[in-house]
Amino acid sequence: MAEVDTRKTNAVLDGLISRNSTPPRLFDGDEPVRADIEQMLAAAMSAPDHGLVRPWRFHIIEGDARHKLGELFADALLGREPFAPTAAIEKEKARPLRAPTIIAVCAKVDPSRAPKVPVVEQIVATAAAMEHIVIAAQSMGYGAIVLTGRNAHDPVVRKAFGLDGQDELLGFVYIGCIKEPTPPKERPNAAEFTSVWV
Ligand SMILES: Cc1cc2nc3c(=O)[nH]c(=O)nc-3n(C[C@H](O)[C@H](O)[C@H](O)COP(=O)(O)O)c2cc1C
Repeated sequence: MAEVDTRKTNAVLDGLISRNSTPPRLFDGDEPVRADIEQMLAAAMSAPDHGLVRPWRFHIIEGDARHKLGELFADALLGREPFAPTAAIEKEKARPLRAPTIIAVCAKVDPSRAPKVPVVEQIVATAAAMEHIVIAAQSMGYGAIVLTGRNAHDPVVRKAFGLDGQDELLGFVYIGCIKEPTPPKERPNAAEFTSVWV
């Protein structure tokens, strides 16, 4: 008798299983609708969050602010490499211009909540919120990708986003309109990473 496929299917599962990052070169230049960005942030609010610390902080960067972010990236590079070549400086300036909308996702952690809610758990909650943004973006037909590079952890950039101590800038979510979704990728078999613990 033919084996019956008992796997459940629904739109949420399909969206999760087919999720793909979109490289910014595939963005078509159109700006995401602001109400859609707000929906993405609303989705972030339902990330699991031990102790309801709400450690996440989101910074929307659009329009001319992208040039300012590029200047900041260039300053960060010059802080690390005072004699960086002009081409490298220009590359940093141009980075944020690759997407019409960027959301910088930061974790402002509260170490006093440890040991019940260790800092690592607050970072994890913020990471989950960031992933909700990415999934929500794709579900609405946008392309999105998390990018960090050296900038997310650079002291010049951290300071500009008001981070100190154990705070983290988890990623810049680049979001743009796309003509069509990127094709599904080959993904590993979950069984390779799974065991039944006894
Ligand atoms: C925290 C974080 C930071 C990342 N930073 C970069 C980055 O700086 N450059 C990059 O090419 N990919 C970066 N990635 C990976 C991309 O977001 C993306 O996951 C990767 O291109 C694989 O595509 P996929 O998500 O469709 O599997 C980062 C991912 C995470 C979670």
